[in-house]
Parts: sequence; structure tokens; C-alpha cells
Amino acid sequence: MIKLTNISKTFGKKIAVNNLSLHIEKGSLTMFIGPSGCGKTTTLRMINRLTPYNKGNIIVNGTSVSDIDPVELRRNIGYVIQEIGLFPHFTVFENIAIVPRLLKWEQKKIEQRVEELLELVTLDQSFSQKYPLQLSGGERQRVGLARALAAEPEILLMDEPFGAIDPINRLKLQDSFLEIQEEIKKTIVFVTHDINEAIKLGDKIAIINEGNLIQYDNVSKILSDPANEFVESLLGQDRSIKALSLEKAKDYVLKDGFITVSDSESHESVEKKMKEKNIEIAFALDKNNHLISRFVLEKATETKKQKFIHDPGPWIIERQNNIKETLSKMLEIGEKKLPVVNRKKEFVGIIKLSNIFEEVNKKTNIS
Ligand SMILES: Nc1ncnc2c1ncn2[C@@H]1O[C@H](COP(=O)(O)OP(=O)(O)OP(=O)(O)O)[C@@H](O)[C@H]1O
Ligand SMILES: [Mg+2]
Repeated sequence: MIKLTNISKTFGKKIAVNNLSLHIEKGSLTMFIGPSGCGKTTTLRMINRLTPYNKGNIIVNGTSVSDIDPVELRRNIGYVIQEIGLFPHFTVFENIAIVPRLLKWEQKKIEQRVEELLELVTLDQSFSQKYPLQLSGGERQRVGLARALAAEPEILLMDEPFGAIDPINRLKLQDSFLEIQEEIKKTIVFVTHDINEAIKLGDKIAIINEGNLIQYDNVSKILSDPANEFVESLLGQDRSIKALSLEKAKDYVLKDGFITVSDSESHESVEKKMKEKNIEIAFALDKNNHLISRFVLEKATETKKQKFIHDPGPWIIERQNNIKETLSKMLEIGEKKLPVVNRKKEFVGIIKLSNIFEEVNKKTNIS
């Protein structure tokens, strides 16, 4: 989908990018990582022709970018940057609708598209009439992502899109971003400074230093086989633990070992069902399949009801959480079974500590 061949870029005497070659496959998520000033942004900007290159060639979808009208090219490539530049005097709706309006889509089609995109980035429809200043940083980044996706580009270039967001919200955004990518399967190039983000999100990682491509591989390959000391130091000490973050909670979801009930069902009735079925845990769901509370059978006689809305309450795992995050949650709160939800917060099943151990053991052959 994107093919860089021997690309070089100099600014005066400064070599920003040095003879870089890289093939990015359709539908893949490639992470660029490396020290400040190593040429990540420059490389991204050469792909959509915001920066011209001195040497080499870049081919996007079979055509050299130098043969495509830059405006046309950029319409087919979504671009998301840190502290996304939303227009402050435009509503969320108008911000997202910019490119579809330029493309002269019918009003009805634009409205449908904006509605669809807000849902995709999990923002309530009421956001469409708000102004950027009325949103949190994370919400603004979501609008920026929706805007970049508005005209259905095949390619997304993202330059530290979550860089300015606090760690907790960043994790949430990463999870919903992965869910979105699972649905839309765009070809994405994503620049980050955060090695954990690169490992968590990427299909492949390109490690860059001083304008040179040091290693470009699948994430698991990079973790198991770093090309040199520079890559090793970038990865840090705990490589085998980091490898656990390549495993996703969604691959460990179990559909049995619990029951679900309606949130209007009485405590007694739930307790009776649990005893009949010899089940230790039940989840009460509302009509949208959202978790309301759980019942835990204690000492085989009594059930305890706990609401999920309380903080600290029982914890919930997101499908896109990785196994490292899941394990640390379990260890932190001493729970062996936790419910799992999707991007829309719908309950999808449970995840069990013993099952994680079994599966990880099978894969790594640790006895
Ligand atoms: N327009 C420009 N004029 C002159 N030099 C530039 C220009 N843009 C970038 N550079 C230089 O090129 C090099 C690469 O810059 P680039 O922005 O690609 O780095 P980066 O990897 O994105 O860094 P960061 O992680 O800090 O964002 C740097 O040394 C920078 O100073
Ligand atoms: Mg940069």
C-alpha cells in the first residue's frame, strides 16, 4: 500500500532521513518509534507530500506520490496530529464534515456519516453540536480521528495522536482505537514515543535513529530478536513481560462458568439459580447488555451483590486490554475472574486467571 524506496531528505546540511526503504502492507498498523529528531514526522509528511523528498521514491497504492495532485492525495490520506487542530469556531459536526462538504456530498449523506463516526469513536450524538473548547483533550482527539476518517481514506497517518493525553485516558483511547481498527482495517502509520504504545498497538514496528531505519519487523520478532543494542535499550529490561502485552484479552474470553440475569431480578431468585446450576458468579445486565452488578457466591451458601458503578467496585476488562494489563488488574485487586466488555461496554464474557496461565504455559512451554 505504501512503498518507500531509498528516501532521503535534507534540511540544509542536516540529514533528516537517510536512504530509508520500507514497505507497508494494506490494512496493517505500523508504528514509527525513535528518539526526538530522528525523522519520524518528516517521513510521515513525505508520504502525504506536505514535505518534498530529495531522493528516492514513494509509491502509494501503485502510483508515485509525485504523480498525484497533492490535494487529491491528501483527501485519500487521513492525517491526525497531536493536539489535533480542530477549528474552534466550528461545532464538532462541522469539523467532522469539512472534507465531505468539500467533496460536495449531499447533506443527508453527511449527517449519516457524522452520526456513524461519532458512534465509532464512542462519542454520544449530543457532542455534534458542541464546540472544541467544550471538550476534554481525549474527546478532542476522538473528534480528530473521526474527522480524519470522514471521507473514508484508505490510509491514516497519525503523528503522536495520544501524546498529550494523560496515561489513564491514553490507555482507554488505545483500546477503543484498536477496536475501531479491527472494524475499519485501514492502512495506518502511527508515530509514538512510547514503546509500550508501540508494542500494544502495532502489527509492525519501524525503529528509526538519526534518519536511519534500524529495524522493521513484527512486534513479537522485535521483542524476541532485537537487531542491536540500540533496539534492546529502547525495549528496556522486561522484554518477556512486555511480550505478554501482545496477547489480547479478547482471545481469552470464556462464555461459560457464569450466568447472566436481568438487573430487575431479585437477589433471592438469582441466588437460587446460581445454586441450582452450581455457579459461583452471576452478572446482572440491563437491556443494553451493560454490566450493572455481579453476584458472588460465598462459602457455598450466601451470595454477595456488588454494583459496578461504585468506585472502587469490581473491575471490568476491555476486550482490547492485553494480558499484561489484565494480569496486573487481577493481581492488584486479588480477583481470579473478571467480566469483559466491548467498545460499546456490552458484556461479552469472562476472563479467568487459571485459563490465562494454562494458555500462556502452552505457548511458552514453561512447566
Ligand atoms: N522544516 C524544517 N526545517 C529544518 N529542519 C527541519 C525541518 N523539519 C524538521 N527538521 C529537522 O529534521 C530532523 C527530523 O525532524 P522530525 O520532525 O522528522 O523529527 P521527529 O522524529 O518527528 O522528532 P520528534 O519525536 O521530536 O517529533 C530534526 O533534526 C529537525 O530539526
Ligand atoms: Mg515528530
